[in-house]
Amino acid sequence: MSKKKLAFSGVQPTGNLHLGNYLGALKNFVSLQKEMECIYCVVDLHAITVFQKPEELRNNVLETVASFLATGLDSEKSIIFNQSAVSGHAELAWILNCVSRMGWLNRMTQFKDKAGADKEKASVGLYIYPNLMAADILLYKATHVPVGADQKQHLELSRDIAQKFNNDFNCKNFFPLPEALIPKNVSRIMSLRDGTKKMSKSEESDYSRINLKDTADEINKKIKKAKSDSEQIPDNLKSLEKKPEALNLLNIYSEISRNSLDKVLIEMSGKEYSYLKTKLAEVLVETIAPVGKEIKKLLGDRSHLEQILKKGKQKANIIAEENLKNIREKVGLI
Ligand code: TYM
Repeated sequence: MSKKKLAFSGVQPTGNLHLGNYLGALKNFVSLQKEMECIYCVVDLHAITVFQKPEELRNNVLETVASFLATGLDSEKSIIFNQSAVSGHAELAWILNCVSRMGWLNRMTQFKDKAGADKEKASVGLYIYPNLMAADILLYKATHVPVGADQKQHLELSRDIAQKFNNDFNCKNFFPLPEALIPKNVSRIMSLRDGTKKMSKSEESDYSRINLKDTADEINKKIKKAKSDSEQIPDNLKSLEKKPEALNLLNIYSEISRNSLDKVLIEMSGKEYSYLKTKLAEVLVETIAPVGKEIKKLLGDRSHLEQILKKGKQKANIIAEENLKNIREKVGLI
């Protein structure tokens, strides 16, 4: 097995990135840069599993790169590129379509959620999406994959596919089994309007999420309007079990203010949620508003962002082609 540690992760360019993306994934992307070689991909081929307007898709790819940079990714340290620029993703995805099993894909809960009631109308791409995700990771023989909790099942499938490939082609340890790196307390940031749903780009109400591009004013308004609880803040986690919105706000505050949840509960217990909201809005404005400003600034120079993608593509392609050569050989493709 390759002993070298390598992190890979992807983010879909489908519009505004939000606080969930930041705490669940991007923050980890940045800290991993100090520990290992990192490859971060704007997964445009994943985005088109649901129809995207071409002009919006092009803009969203650049905006995602700007968000990567604004949250602290360094294009000299990490490889940053868009998925469709390296054709190996699509090629390996096809090979893995032939390794992965229908039964495995049928269990994927995200497909069921995204396809909704009328599965017959979902694109075939949406159904085999997890195989492309496995290809993304295995194309680089990545060992670590920083993601939020919603990607856990896809990561397990990637491991199953890697294992089956290694068995089928009698090449034990050819693909390392990738390890998911999922943050402990903020692996699933919930909607500000409904604590049982995850914060997401697709939820209709913009008040359900803090976008990375939000201004201080917008952040203040959204936190003020966020659902919380009419009782005072308790001193223990058990009392928050049936109060998902309150727990979500406390979790976000704990993570952004870099204090443990226990410490936050000591600070907040007996106070009204309006007190927490004032403090939370303060730390969020301090952390997120500068990111939003930076994204907007970076978007003013599109050619700089395109240049980063071009350089990233070249570096990613070298690794991908080398691995693909061996993969083709294992499979018997001339
Ligand atoms: P995507 O674009 O939906 O989300 C990007 C990252 O953000 C995390 N995330 C969250 N974390 C915590 N709370 C939330 N509310 C929240 N919402 C999103 C996601 O878990 C993810 O880490 N399939 C992937 C993209 C992908 C990928 C890959 C990831 C394609 N190929 C290979 C890793 C490795 C996706 O749709 O993420």
